[in-house]
Amino acid sequence: MLPELFTYLTTPCPRFVREMGYLHEAIAIRGRFHRCGAAWKEHLERSRAAVLAAARTCREREAVVILGSGLLLDVPLAELAGAFKEVILVDIVHLPAVRRVARRLGNVRLENFDVSTIALKLFELMKTGRPTLPELMSADFSFGTAPSLVVSLNILSQLPVIPGRFVRQRLPAVGEEDLIEWSKRIVAVHYASLQALAGDVCLIADYAYIQLGRDGSREVGSTLHGLELPEPQSTWLWQIAPLGELSDHYARELKVGVWSL
Ligand SMILES: C[S@@+](CC[C@H](N)C(=O)[O-])C[C@H]1O[C@@H](n2cnc3c(N)ncnc32)[C@H](O)[C@@H]1O
Repeated sequence: MLPELFTYLTTPCPRFVREMGYLHEAIAIRGRFHRCGAAWKEHLERSRAAVLAAARTCREREAVVILGSGLLLDVPLAELAGAFKEVILVDIVHLPAVRRVARRLGNVRLENFDVSTIALKLFELMKTGRPTLPELMSADFSFGTAPSLVVSLNILSQLPVIPGRFVRQRLPAVGEEDLIEWSKRIVAVHYASLQALAGDVCLIADYAYIQLGRDGSREVGSTLHGLELPEPQSTWLWQIAPLGELSDHYARELKVGVWSL
């Protein structure tokens, strides 16, 4: 508890990142990883392998951009720093431990950046109390370079999560159907932004969940608010929440896919 509180108080980040819950979530992921590390092992290894495979086949070796670098659990950072002139780690918040790791390598840059483009706008809108949802825009993933490779790394399904929770809490007049449609558009806009890039692009993302009940029940659903993606080039299961993590009654798995766009 104390280390988490210390991280919460000492991580530099803008007010909206703290107040909307992005910082809290980043710290919570670290806690989940400590509890579920064994169950997550295969997913993290396969994610790192997919990033390295994309790096190997990449046509240029200038900059590589990692969207959703987070705690670097699924980022083969040393290998990327050796293979590319520059590694640009992009996340809405970088914890101090990540900053320390990045500093040790000479060619790693951190960018605090909202991949969804709507977090600050939503935060500002909340102050007006108007029950409208901000317009979505394509994000610019160039960061002052022409990246040879952009990897969207286990972030796609996460983009609407905190905005959705924030809207439900602070803008309750927004209808649930509108919110779900908007969440789907956040995911779709990210996918379209990746497709529009000139360099090589690798998307690694979960797209479905499987809830396995202790009583033998099985429920399957989309983690992308129903957005359909093409068949992934490879796929695996992420045991994200073994029995006891989210509930004593069910475990949850995610279907993760890899696409080169
Ligand atoms: C499931 S984690 C991805 C795993 C991560 N690569 C790691 O190793 O920890 C999702 C990441 O997306 C980031 N994220 C969520 N919404 C974001 C946004 N709008 N812009 C940028 N990053 C965001 C979170 O901070 C988190 O680090």
